[in-house]
Amino acid sequence: MASVKSLLPFLIVLPGYVNAWGSLGHTTVAYLAQNLVCDKTAKFAQQLLNDSSPAYLANVATWADSYRNEPGGGFSSVYHYIDALDNPPESCNIDYERDCPEEGCIVSAIANYSSRAFEKNIGIIEQQKALKWVIHFVGDIHQPLHVENIAVGGNLINVTFYGAKTNLHSIWDTAIPQKAVGNFSQTNALSWANNLTAEIKHGQYMKESRTWLKRIDAKEAVESSLVWARDANKYVCSTVLPNGPDAVFDQELSGAYYEAAIPVVKKQIAKAGYRLAAWLDAIVEAAEKHEHPY
Ligand SMILES: *[C@@H]1O[C@H](CO)[C@@H](O)[C@H](O)[C@H]1NC(C)=O
Ligand SMILES: *[C@@H]1O[C@H](CO)[C@@H](O)[C@H](O)[C@H]1NC(C)=O
Ligand SMILES: *[C@@H]1O[C@H](CO)[C@@H](O)[C@H](O)[C@H]1NC(C)=O
Ligand SMILES: *[C@@H]1O[C@H](CO)[C@@H](O)[C@H](O)[C@H]1NC(C)=O
Ligand SMILES: *[C@@H]1O[C@H](CO)[C@@H](O)[C@H](O)[C@H]1NC(C)=O
Ligand SMILES: [Zn+2]
Repeated sequence: MASVKSLLPFLIVLPGYVNAWGSLGHTTVAYLAQNLVCDKTAKFAQQLLNDSSPAYLANVATWADSYRNEPGGGFSSVYHYIDALDNPPESCNIDYERDCPEEGCIVSAIANYSSRAFEKNIGIIEQQKALKWVIHFVGDIHQPLHVENIAVGGNLINVTFYGAKTNLHSIWDTAIPQKAVGNFSQTNALSWANNLTAEIKHGQYMKESRTWLKRIDAKEAVESSLVWARDANKYVCSTVLPNGPDAVFDQELSGAYYEAAIPVVKKQIAKAGYRLAAWLDAIVEAAEKHEHPY
């Protein structure tokens, strides 16, 4: 079998390949953020999205994954990830200059849309899209394989999971979370979000969640989202590919691999929702003080 790494030079661009946390992950992140945002932020989002239902963020959490496949939406595909050209498992890191190309990446997109959500001159439709992208991308940036280049973010690493043929990227997006907490429905996502909210407020994440907002600054959107990207990228070395790609290629990952992955998946979803809430609060506050760079 050819090593996965040896195939890489020939696999530079495969648009549309990389997916995203599945509906369960994204919807849970959005519900978690709803639980934590301040009233002013909730009001802003409900008004802009024209949705005052109890799912006003959850309802738009996966819009970005459909939009990129629509005619005219293809440009946004590259915004769902950053291809860190690091060297897992020996070394993991993100270098913005090296890894974010001119056409953009998830870090530049979070910065761009975090200010466009407040730019009245672009029109309500564009403002709505901007907010929907921020909600989605803050989720994606917490999925370790969305902040990693190797084998197209793991899409080319074939694996099986409970006998089903799939790939490493896909099981991190969808199969691992669903095996752990159940299949997707809004009800189940809300249940998971409420459980994670409790873990953050007075459970297993209470202490460490105080460190999750380090260096968040609405005026420094690139720097802020790079903190999140680097945080997630570290798990590529520790948990996603601890023994390199060849060690998991064509392997069944439902046993020890899954057991090691699940606490990371849960924590990353918890961080994403917590940080999304804080980020939305921060950019709403900054817009009120006219601090956005436009
Ligand atoms: C807002 O939503 C209501 C109810 O769904 C709909 O009737 C109305 O046209 C929407 N307004 C805008 C500006 O999208
Ligand atoms: C910001 O978003 C707009 C609208 O999607 C896009 O046309 C523009 O290229 C983006 N700018 C950057 C720097 O990503
Ligand atoms: C991985 O799986 C896909 C889909 O089943 C298959 O087309 C491809 O050849 C496999 N890749 C390798 C390197 O075996
Ligand atoms: C989840 O969906 C899969 C595939 O559709 C199905 O086989 C499984 O029984 C479902 N699990 C639950 C707990 O409903
Ligand atoms: C949330 O916690 C409750 C009580 O422990 C549990 O029954 C439920 O399955 C959990 N929901 C999810 C989606 O994990
Ligand atoms: Zn995505």
